[in-house]
Amino acid sequence: MKILVIGGAGTIGKRIVEHFSKDHQVLVAGRSSEEYPVDIADTRSIKKLFKKIKKQGRIHAIICAAGEAKWAPFKDLSEADFHIGLRSKLMGQVNIVRYGHKCLKKKGSITLTTGVLADDPVYQTTSAAMVNGGIHSFVQAVAIEMRRQIRVNVVSSGVVMDAYGKYESYFPGHPPIPMDRMVMGYVKSVSGRVNGEIIRIYI
Ligand SMILES: NC(=O)c1ccc[n+]([C@@H]2O[C@H](COP(=O)([O-])OP(=O)(O)OC[C@H]3O[C@@H](n4cnc5c(N)ncnc54)[C@H](OP(=O)(O)O)[C@@H]3O)[C@@H](O)[C@H]2O)c1
Repeated sequence: MKILVIGGAGTIGKRIVEHFSKDHQVLVAGRSSEEYPVDIADTRSIKKLFKKIKKQGRIHAIICAAGEAKWAPFKDLSEADFHIGLRSKLMGQVNIVRYGHKCLKKKGSITLTTGVLADDPVYQTTSAAMVNGGIHSFVQAVAIEMRRQIRVNVVSSGVVMDAYGKYESYFPGHPPIPMDRMVMGYVKSVSGRVNGEIIRIYI
């Protein structure tokens, strides 16, 4: 398969890239990628990426492991702060589906990324949790409308082992998710038949 991984240089993305590169051709996109630069908070940038990809030939799968949201106590979050998550993690991933599906072969797949905050939020995550929940509902709804048997799923994992040192104090009582367990969520979406599924990996 030819698979595009947006955010493929990140903590989660690089493990996804490592796994799929064993048997597939993987294209890595991100803000600092030289070959496939993209800022998912900027619609024009997403359109430009998919125009380039389509010119090179349709691909089998798109994975997004990128997207930001502001973390702060609810009382301190301004409307502009909420817009960071809405523009990047929410509309960024919605736009990846809006424009990305045109680059896919028949029966291709799109896999988005959210996280445990959608179901089990912690302090300072009203914006991040809201955006994750929005993507979950979006995925369930958009899967009904995809044509050419294209599938759309989302992987929602707990704090991953490689980031646990950084986030442990924010997630009391949350078990860290082994990296290979997290990667299996993406394998289920890309190589399996599931569609419109929220693939939860919380233990
Ligand atoms: N870490 C966890 O434990 C965990 C658990 C569950 C879910 N998540 C979610 O998974 C996603 C990735 O997390 P991570 O820990 O791997 O983050 P990370 O280490 O910061 O990596 C994020 C990757 O995405 C790229 N990126 C960030 N913003 C982008 C944008 N606007 N446009 C294009 N690329 C962008 C970054 O590269 P450039 O800077 O070069 O663009 C980087 O490669 C996030 O949405 C996060 O909320 C994380």
